[in-house]
Amino acid sequence: MFDSGIGGLTVLKEVQSLLPTEHILYLGDTARVPYGSKSPQTVTKYALESALFLLTKGIKVLVIACNTSAALSLGILKKKLPIPVLGVIDPGAKEAVSHTKNKKVGVIGTKATIRSMAYERAIKRLDSGIEVVSRSCPLFVPIVEEGLEHDEVARIMAERYLAEFSKSGIDTLVMGCTHYPVLEDIIHDVMGHGVAIVHTGKETAKAVKETLESDGILNTSGRGGCEFFVTDSPDLFKEVGGRFLEEPLKKVTFVKNLDYKDFLLST
Ligand code: DGL
Repeated sequence: MFDSGIGGLTVLKEVQSLLPTEHILYLGDTARVPYGSKSPQTVTKYALESALFLLTKGIKVLVIACNTSAALSLGILKKKLPIPVLGVIDPGAKEAVSHTKNKKVGVIGTKATIRSMAYERAIKRLDSGIEVVSRSCPLFVPIVEEGLEHDEVARIMAERYLAEFSKSGIDTLVMGCTHYPVLEDIIHDVMGHGVAIVHTGKETAKAVKETLESDGILNTSGRGGCEFFVTDSPDLFKEVGGRFLEEPLKKVTFVKNLDYKDFLLST
């Protein structure tokens, strides 16, 4: 699986707990985070490069553990790769649709995800009668990347982004960015307890299991593990990621160059 940085660990945690016998390779493109403020072309180029890097490591399934990449690049990755590719958006949309009672769903994410309207489309494909209210929260990503989730800056920004939004009448809120579950308690507090929060990582983990089962490639025995790759210094990733996963990240490898685009674009 890959993400622009540390956020995809919220997906990894869920996949790991549901599929403890699988071996997971995680790539955090920490040199180029954030993706959420970049153009669709740039995000797609990065997604192709990350995907090929992981493919050369022999993966059997690819999980795009980043809403921004999934919103903008799921289609092309599905087309280009010879293995199943899953994103985080459809599983999150499915869960939101099954949760909402008043048919009013909120989505928060990066600017690129919100602008793409990928969640609106995914939700309305399942139930066209649902109203979707969206809002981008761009500073949540750097707050999480810097490990500031318990700092008062996190609460101040959550109030700034969500206090008004919480009056929109939604009964379900999708955290449409894999970094946001790190701020889940604060988001919950500001939105009020009448609003159900959808964690796309949990739903994605179920979708990964279904895919592995239906394709007959589920590993049913032995012990799984995790290997991490980052495109910038492993130190901050180790520190913040270890705190988040509540265990030390043993194997974090620095990847110098992800530039595989020429190969991929010509296949
Ligand atoms: N964690 C990512 C997402 O789910 C992207 C954050 C970023 O790089 O802007 O959208």
